[in-house]
Amino acid sequence: MSGGTMFKKQKLNPNESKAQAKPWVEKYRPKKLEDVAAQDHAVTVLKRTLQTANLPHMLFYGPPGTGKTSTILALTKELYGPELMKSRVLELNASDERGISIVREKVKNFARLMVSKPSAEDLEKYPCPPYKIIILDEADSMTADAQSALRRTMETYSGVTRFCLICNYVTRIIDPLASRCSKFRFKALDSSNALSRLQYISQEESLKYEEGILERILDISQGDLRKAITLLQSAAKVVQQNDNADAITLTHVNELSGTIHDKVLQDLISVIESKDLNSIMRTVQDFVNQGWSAASALTQLHDYYIKNDHLDTDFKNKVSWLLFDSDSKLTSGANEHLQLLNLSMKISQLY
Ligand SMILES: Nc1ncnc2c1ncn2[C@@H]1O[C@H](COP(=O)(O)OP(=O)(O)OP(=O)(O)O)[C@@H](O)[C@H]1O
Ligand SMILES: [Mg+2]
Repeated sequence: MSGGTMFKKQKLNPNESKAQAKPWVEKYRPKKLEDVAAQDHAVTVLKRTLQTANLPHMLFYGPPGTGKTSTILALTKELYGPELMKSRVLELNASDERGISIVREKVKNFARLMVSKPSAEDLEKYPCPPYKIIILDEADSMTADAQSALRRTMETYSGVTRFCLICNYVTRIIDPLASRCSKFRFKALDSSNALSRLQYISQEESLKYEEGILERILDISQGDLRKAITLLQSAAKVVQQNDNADAITLTHVNELSGTIHDKVLQDLISVIESKDLNSIMRTVQDFVNQGWSAASALTQLHDYYIKNDHLDTDFKNKVSWLLFDSDSKLTSGANEHLQLLNLSMKISQLY
C-alpha cells in the first residue's frame, strides 16, 4: 500500500470544518434550564431559585449523560450572565486534581475571595445573587479525606458561597456532606424524551436515516443521552465520508456500537447448545480473533437467553448467575478469551 494515497489532503470549506470540529454533545448542550429535558423536578425547583435568587448547597446525582453538568452550567449562566459568571463560578472537574491539598487551597482561596460587583448592565438582566458558586463535578471520585476537609469550608464560607456537588453514585459522598445539601436525583432519560431530543438534532443537522434508527440508538445507549448523541454523530460522519451511502442504516449503527453481528452470535449460541467442547474452543477462538469484545457478547447473550420464551425459569436463573460471574471477573480485569470460554462451557453444561 502506498502511503501517498492514504493521506491525500482534502480541501475543506473552513466554515464547514469549524462546525464539524465541535462535538454535538457540546453543540446541543442545553443553554437554559428550560432546555434540559426530562428532569422536571430538578428544573422546577431550580427555576424557583432564579426568582428568589436564594440557593442552598446542592447535590446532583444520577447516571451518566442525564444532564447534571448541563443543568448547573445553565443555572449559573442564568443567574449571573456570561460575563459575571467568570468571576463568580469555580468549576473543578478533573478527577485527579482533588486531593485534600486542592480542596484546602483552590476551594478555600476562591471561597475566601470577595464577591465581585456586578456591572449595572448585568444587574438589569440577571438576578446576580450576592454569592459565588463552587461546582465540584464528579465528586464521588474525591477521597474521603478531601470530602471531610470540605465540611468545614462549606460552613465557614456559607455566607458568600454555595456548593454544588455532582456525582454518579450518591453513596460515595460521605454522610456529613450529603446532609448539608439539597439533593436532586437525575433519572436516566426515558425513550420519549430522549427520542425527541435526537429528532431535534437530526433535524438541525438535516440527517437522513432509515426508519427505526433513532430507536435503535436509544436502545444501545440505555438512557445515556450523551452516548446516544455521540453515536448519532459518528454514524453521520461515516455516511458523509462514504460516497455510496446517503442515509444512516442499521448496519452503520451496529458497526459503530460494536454490536456483534447476528450470524456470529448465532454461531456461538448453536455451538454452546451442541455441547461439543472442541467446537466451542474453536468458535470462541475465532470470535476473539475477529476482535469482538467479550463484554458485548455478555450483554447480547443476556438478551438472547433472558428474553427467550422457550427456556424455562430455572435455566434462565442459572445462566444469569454465570453471566453475572463473568461480568464481575471481566470488570476486575480477567482475560476476555478465558472468561468467554469458561462461560460458554458452563452454559453448555446446563443443556
Ligand atoms: N436532560 C437533558 N436534556 C437535554 N440534553 C441532555 C440531557 N442530558 C444530557 N444531555 C446531552 O448530553 C450531554 C451530556 O450531558 P451532561 O454533561 O449534562 O451529563 P452528566 O449528567 O453531567 O453526565 P456525567 O455524569 O457523565 O458527568 C449534554 O451536552 C447534552 O447534549
Ligand atoms: Mg457531568
